Amino acid sequence: MASQTLTIRKPDDWHVHLRDGEMLATVAPYTARQFARAIVMPNLVPPVTTVEAARDYRKRILEATAPGFTPLMTCYLTDDTSPDELARGHEEGVWIAAKLYPAGATTNSASGVTDIRNIYPALTRMEKLGMVLCVHGEVTDPEVDVFDREAVFIDRVLLELVRDFPALKIVFEHITTAEAVRFVEGSGPNIGATVTPQHLIINRNAIFAGGLRPHAYCLPVAKREQHRLAVRKAATSGSPKFFLGTDSAPHSREAKESGCGCAGIFNAPFALESYVDVFDEEDALDRFEAFASVNGANFYGLPINEDNVTLERFYHDVPAEVAGLVPFQAGEKMRWRFVG
Ligand code: NCD
Ligand code: ZN
Repeated sequence: MASQTLTIRKPDDWHVHLRDGEMLATVAPYTARQFARAIVMPNLVPPVTTVEAARDYRKRILEATAPGFTPLMTCYLTDDTSPDELARGHEEGVWIAAKLYPAGATTNSASGVTDIRNIYPALTRMEKLGMVLCVHGEVTDPEVDVFDREAVFIDRVLLELVRDFPALKIVFEHITTAEAVRFVEGSGPNIGATVTPQHLIINRNAIFAGGLRPHAYCLPVAKREQHRLAVRKAATSGSPKFFLGTDSAPHSREAKESGCGCAGIFNAPFALESYVDVFDEEDALDRFEAFASVNGANFYGLPINEDNVTLERFYHDVPAEVAGLVPFQAGEKMRWRFVG
């Protein structure tokens, strides 16, 4: 009989949006409940571009979460990011990574980078420091089909980046395509990737199932089934290059269910349940701990967590609403439950 419980080292979330203010207070406890650490994205309004802003934001996150949770902060890269400010924040232990948003690629990316060359001085310093670059890997060229933006980003930006900065540690965030999987697998050990639950579970049909489904819309947008299968295979393969990053990105119901709905899926309340189900379906439960709790820490050069968490087989439904927000897989059946 298949085992009824699964106990693993406490996982970390290597990519999450915790927002600020009331939304922070609402959503952060869900992440802190399942994860020991989380890499917190800096795309606030205004974005987190200074060491002081990151320090203050970290404090607000700690106030919003129970003791024991560690937020790991990131610097939002702009055309004007100063290499000295980056180095200072890294040396003072405030930020662990810097985030590249191509300007206009996604939510609150307007102050992002307009040309990768503009951050070459910053990247030169990061490569020396061993500071990780987290990349939102999509081109913003409106001529490029929205479903091709990740694959085209590899050709137009990433290949050059790894050639010019061969020792830079890069996380290709929330990968969604077979091309991204191939790129990561074919790169050196300094290139890794995060994988979200949604890109393991839905393909692009979910966005149009019987009508327009704003809660299935995130960026990068879900792709064809063949891509979902490629991402699933990579995540469950046991390769140390792929690790958990939920990209939980809550928006109010009104902001999602709108004439111009925001991109982002709120998956934090049942993140581990969503992931473990995929590993179970792929007969890869024995590889779940590496994906969720080991590979990311190793990539970032951090210790793995000492505590354990347990999941158990238990049928339940994801509620239609969690704290006024619509969670990923709302109304769907879950086969696992997070025990703690
Ligand atoms: C994110 C957000 O809302 O901040 N949205 C999303 O669809 N993932 C931004 C991002 O990570 O692209
Ligand atoms: Zn994100």
